[in-house]
Amino acid sequence: MCGIVGAVSQRDIVPTLIEGLRRLEYRGYDSCGVAVHRDGAPRRARSMARVNALARTAADMQLEGLTGIAHTRWATHGLPAMQNAHPIFSRELIAVVHNGIIENHEPLRTMLIGRGYEFVSQTDTEVVAHLIHAFYHGDLLAAVRAATALLHGSYAIAVFSNDEPQRMVGARQGSPLVVGIGAEESFLASDVLALEGSTDRFIFLEDGDSADLTPSGVRICDRDGNHVRRPERSVVQPRAEGSLGEYRHYMQKEIFEQPDAVAQTIAEAEPLSTLLFKARSRDAFDAIDNVLLLGCGTSHYSGQVAKHWFESIARLPVQVEIASEYRYRQPVESSRTLVVVISQSGETADTLAALKHAQALGHEHTLAICNVAASAMMRATKWSFLTKAGREIGVASTKAFTTQLAALFVLAATLGRIRGVVTAEQEARYRLQLDELPAALRAVLALEPQVIAWANELAMCEHVLFLGRGPHLAIALEGALKLKEISYIHAEAFPAGELKHGPLALVTSAMPVVVCAPNDGLVDKLKSNMEEVRARGGRLYVIADVGTHIEPGESMSVIELPPYFGPLSSLLHVLPLQLLAYHAACIRGTDVDKPRNLAKSVTVD
Ligand code: F6R
Repeated sequence: MCGIVGAVSQRDIVPTLIEGLRRLEYRGYDSCGVAVHRDGAPRRARSMARVNALARTAADMQLEGLTGIAHTRWATHGLPAMQNAHPIFSRELIAVVHNGIIENHEPLRTMLIGRGYEFVSQTDTEVVAHLIHAFYHGDLLAAVRAATALLHGSYAIAVFSNDEPQRMVGARQGSPLVVGIGAEESFLASDVLALEGSTDRFIFLEDGDSADLTPSGVRICDRDGNHVRRPERSVVQPRAEGSLGEYRHYMQKEIFEQPDAVAQTIAEAEPLSTLLFKARSRDAFDAIDNVLLLGCGTSHYSGQVAKHWFESIARLPVQVEIASEYRYRQPVESSRTLVVVISQSGETADTLAALKHAQALGHEHTLAICNVAASAMMRATKWSFLTKAGREIGVASTKAFTTQLAALFVLAATLGRIRGVVTAEQEARYRLQLDELPAALRAVLALEPQVIAWANELAMCEHVLFLGRGPHLAIALEGALKLKEISYIHAEAFPAGELKHGPLALVTSAMPVVVCAPNDGLVDKLKSNMEEVRARGGRLYVIADVGTHIEPGESMSVIELPPYFGPLSSLLHVLPLQLLAYHAACIRGTDVDKPRNLAKSVTVD
């Protein structure tokens, strides 16, 4: 998703801006650019290739300056094309970079054309640039405030005027923007990662804020134009991702990091304690009588797995909602709900909006399970649990998913304990299972050669079905999501019991069906569903626990996992599916870490 970096300094800032873009590359983008203030007119370099290519172009142009803005673009309005790459200029005076979507760009465009502005891109951002130009009479902050007052939708922008060499203005509504404070220099960025190495002092702007930056500092005003002080925070950046080492891709590396990531995430869960979720959660946890889990994509699927834990372990009613749906609904709410937002990035626009919607509906008890300490979600909730996956670079989420599951399991067990439905004995058993989990995950990862053999067969297919039951339905859904997003093979998942109500019509000898078959209470039902597939000539690829007695045979391939791992079994079953997607994608030659059209941090609606 679009990434912004801006700087106003007394030294050449182009290397800092380019480095900032490199650090934002993980978010996903299709073009990039950088612009600097120069006497006469602003200058810019843009590229349809990677940031490294942009760096070469900028060097060839000898691009340098004391004030500048830079951007990685993830197309929303207008194809990925050079003329749509940011920074966008208005009349060689105003330069803008933007993350978000301007919903009323069409009427504004018509109005601006009527005033003589010429549009050279298909972007909604060009409307912003021309609007600021139209309002500009020598005071950039005033122009930005006047222009943004007319915008509907979401935006984070960084802007400079070529008439004010040592000034940069930022504004945000709905999309993230952070101010960085350096020594004799000031920065703007989409997230703190972009400024690693430049500063560790940050101010997180709030919706409606505008920031006026010079090398000597920043002044912030709120939506009404009042000068406000926002707290400055010192942010210790997470460890850099380091080299790929023996791995070909970050996704592969991150899959294999899962045993350690899960171990680190649960290390602090000793003993299961409300302190995990920050002080004073005990009273509130006592007061809640149901749970609402909100997330998108993979994070939503972790909520779907956890639903089973909250019901069976904590004996609490649970709702799991896709954040982009919940945010537009008017559900019947209860004041005794614990609202849990689940997110790797903590910046996903739909999940943040769903959280705000829940808060606006009166929910007080909010908790974030998130992998980025300095994220908007961690700041916006009352309680939080930081997963310890470390930085996740691959666009396809892997270690964030399993660490979210570990955190959700701890939460369910903690709530069960508080509610008196988990005995001390059961708690000790859960603790033991958590302790044994990393080793069990390692044992499953050792099965990679068998998964590669499957990938060689499935990579040739255009469609794959996934089946599961109970918590493993969410694992089947996650397996299908992984496969489609990185290998571009069409994959869908169904509850195994639903097969006969429709999807069975798709099953032929050309339709591989991947099945998650834990040795739980539903395994006999699942075996019947597998027979339904076999009877139609379908090919089965079954991930089965030792003890299920599912034997390989004609049209039936089986990978055997360690014995059933109880409630945490889903964490084991997802690993072969991640590996399957990864190896199928490698065989098909896709860009595994940066699949087409996708972004790591989805900061637009
Ligand atoms: C899929 C994937 C996405 C994310 C989703 C939510 O592999 O990564 O489906 O899970 O975009 O992102 P976060 O967890 O950052 O809120």
